[in-house]
Amino acid sequence: MRRKLVAGNWKMHGSRADNGPLIEAILAAPNLETVDCVVCPPFVYLAELARALRGAAVKLGAQNVGAEAQGAYTGEVSAAMLKDVGCQYVIVGHSERRGLYGEDDVLVARKFAAAQSRGLLPILCVGELLAEREAGRTHELVGRQLEAVVALTGIGSFARAVVAYEPVWAIGTGRTASPQQAQDVHAFIRQRLAERDAKIAADLQILYGGSVKAGNARELFLQADVDGGLIGGASLKAEEFLSIVAAARG
Ligand code: 13P
Repeated sequence: MRRKLVAGNWKMHGSRADNGPLIEAILAAPNLETVDCVVCPPFVYLAELARALRGAAVKLGAQNVGAEAQGAYTGEVSAAMLKDVGCQYVIVGHSERRGLYGEDDVLVARKFAAAQSRGLLPILCVGELLAEREAGRTHELVGRQLEAVVALTGIGSFARAVVAYEPVWAIGTGRTASPQQAQDVHAFIRQRLAERDAKIAADLQILYGGSVKAGNARELFLQADVDGGLIGGASLKAEEFLSIVAAARG
């Protein structure tokens, strides 16, 4: 039985003044340990949040990672640094990184490898644009994004990773994929990986992301291959985020 995972991607939001009360309210909730719960703040807040989360059931993740180990890469943050400040997870290949900052499949795969080389669990984001869905190309696109990582790191690496299906048209739009649309792509992802290794595919946590809210989380999480969510806007409000965590508990 796969555990449910709920991760909050704070994106470029927050401040020291906002983060303290938010994390305090999250940590005050009961039974947090019954699901895997992760918060992913901007880089500059990681160390301070790591201190706040010490010994807590909520884990820390970053939103991005440099592909190189170290060196003259101005503005980049390495996997070793993320590990050093207390991260356990890191999001790689978010559609905002792919779309706004030109990260291609090969770079995303290198970031996935860099994260794992330092013992971080990558949360690999995959997903199609609206035009690609409308052209019936969803499986093709998601398959290509997955294959790029398998080609570099091998199927075995998915034993130490999480995949998040995030249809780009559902991110920040209030337009959620229907539970059936999500389940269809999640099942495809699991099947695609199962062709390589059935056990690894069966154990893999596959999250859905894209306008998940307290009001729609339960139905999404009831789908057979939906193992939780990657939450953007709704992760910035403690009550809303905790309702989503409660929905994951079933
Ligand atoms: P929203 O939940 O705000 O749609 O964002 C989803 C997302 O991109 C999480 O990574």
